[in-house]
Amino acid sequence: MTTPSTDEHWEQFGKEDPYWAVLTHDEFRKGTLDDQAIQRFFQSGEEHVARILEVIRLQLVPGFSPASALDFGCGVGRLALPLATRCSRVVGVDVSPSMLEEARRNTQARRASGVEWVLGDDTLSRVTGRFDLVHTYIVLQHIPPERGLPLFRRLVDLVAPGGVGALQLTYNRVGFTPPAEGPLCHWPPPVPPPPDTLWVHLRGVARAFYRRLVWLFQGARSAPPPTGPEMQMNQYALNPVFQTLQAAGVTRFVCEFTDHGGDQGLMLLFQKPK
Ligand SMILES: C[S@@+](CC[C@H](N)C(=O)[O-])C[C@H]1O[C@@H](n2cnc3c(N)ncnc32)[C@H](O)[C@@H]1O
Repeated sequence: MTTPSTDEHWEQFGKEDPYWAVLTHDEFRKGTLDDQAIQRFFQSGEEHVARILEVIRLQLVPGFSPASALDFGCGVGRLALPLATRCSRVVGVDVSPSMLEEARRNTQARRASGVEWVLGDDTLSRVTGRFDLVHTYIVLQHIPPERGLPLFRRLVDLVAPGGVGALQLTYNRVGFTPPAEGPLCHWPPPVPPPPDTLWVHLRGVARAFYRRLVWLFQGARSAPPPTGPEMQMNQYALNPVFQTLQAAGVTRFVCEFTDHGGDQGLMLLFQKPK
């Protein structure tokens, strides 16, 4: 079963509202975004990177100081640019050319160096070499598992021997009940494809209408109304995720839970064998 590609959605987000698409707070909307909000946006990235490195040093690899890093689903560079102040080579990969364009602008504005911005595909065919740190955050959750799981495997493969992976994905939506029977790796059950394109269109219109209604009732009138495509959320079965790590020779990992409005996830931190 194939699920419609989300890549066009991300390009539309990248063109129309890139900062808000990364962190969906009203202050990052195109209409309200100002220099101070951009400052806070990058500060949040700086804090995330500092904390992840601290967890790695405290719980996995004392003194870890990566020379190279890959940030998968880099958006406008919120995390890749703080990584670039610590590593001599950083590669930011994203599927949206407009996100990457904005990331390039941010590189210049912040006078960063050593960063390459690379267009992503399903095999990360444009990424060369291996990395001391491979990182992804709030990205795989937006990619259907049938595409995301092979990407997860490729990300694990891109970690250099002795290097570290810090890979986040979602595994549950609060209120979602997994089926009582059947192997876990089939969870969530495949959603049947929409019967025809008219139905897809009508569903899109209904969802956009619903989101606008919610926005009106929440009284968020100071910010522009929500626009653009819906942001798809997915849950990953954990069996193939753990199998991938074990097959790569990983013997232990550190796990931090994440929760974005009921979408529950894991940040998995692990070291590949030397
Ligand atoms: C919510 S944003 C997070 C950006 C960044 N990780 C951060 O935290 O600042 C998700 C990003 O993933 C990118 N993305 C979505 N699907 C992707 C794919 N298949 N390959 C690479 N990037 C993808 C989107 O274009 C978007 O920039």
